[in-house]
Amino acid sequence: MTDVQPLKPISNSAQDRQALIAARMQYYRDLGIYDFYRRGEPLENAAWLENLSAVSGEVQYQNSIDVEEQEISARKPFPPAPAIAEIVDPAKRAQALNVIRQDIGECTRCTLSAGRNKIVFGDGNPNARLLFVGEGPGADEDAQGLPFVGRAGQLLNNMINAMGLSREQVYIANIVKCRPPGNRVPEPEEAHTCTQFLFRQIDVIRPEVIVALGSTAATYLLGGKSPLNALRGRVHSVRDARLIVTYHPAYLLRDPAQKKEAWKDLQIAMAELGLSPPAREQSTKTP
Ligand code: URA
Repeated sequence: MTDVQPLKPISNSAQDRQALIAARMQYYRDLGIYDFYRRGEPLENAAWLENLSAVSGEVQYQNSIDVEEQEISARKPFPPAPAIAEIVDPAKRAQALNVIRQDIGECTRCTLSAGRNKIVFGDGNPNARLLFVGEGPGADEDAQGLPFVGRAGQLLNNMINAMGLSREQVYIANIVKCRPPGNRVPEPEEAHTCTQFLFRQIDVIRPEVIVALGSTAATYLLGGKSPLNALRGRVHSVRDARLIVTYHPAYLLRDPAQKKEAWKDLQIAMAELGLSPPAREQSTKTP
């Protein structure tokens, strides 16, 4: 008969834990495994991630969109999105958007009003099939009262044109309509206060496809925070529209290598809209 020791109950004492680890190591050695490494050790020089804005020449979005996984504090659960409104007759959509603009008025519903010059309501075709949603106005937008008119806006225009569309055919809006100081990420209270108007705009325009530009747009449209890359490459559903998530143009200005990834996202949006990219000009070069 083999000598079987009676099982002792294992406590959580340091001694028992050491004994367990030693037994497990012995078990691995018995299997012929000698080398171990620990998973999830922090990279020694991961600090470079925090210094992106310091090494980049782009200053406009240095606080908010350097790294796409932005810090959006999730202090309170997201309030439920309002019920989707009735469909508005396409001929009356421009007028319905004006009513929303009037309801916003000279808004002081949140603290962002204190530092803004102009409310950036949104711009484009009231019957657009495609809606782009960014984070919030920057300095240029705050000065002009129009979304995406700075450097990031120039890149967005190029993205729209690459899809075979013009800016006049689409609609462009933001999560918040007033510029956050120093271009910081909007606080949840600010975003929730403002998205009630964005949701009304979406219900009037009835876009078939919404493209969320960056993490803030994705978070507040989808009603919760997830890593941007976990949201990309899929078709989500928001307010009766299909939603595609991609990188914010300001992020693409910093990391142009990601443009090809963004183009993949835009191609999903185009497929959803039944669009094919415009034919490229014939190259004179041999392939
Ligand atoms: N970035 C945004 O998110 N929105 C704008 O309107 C401009 C830049």
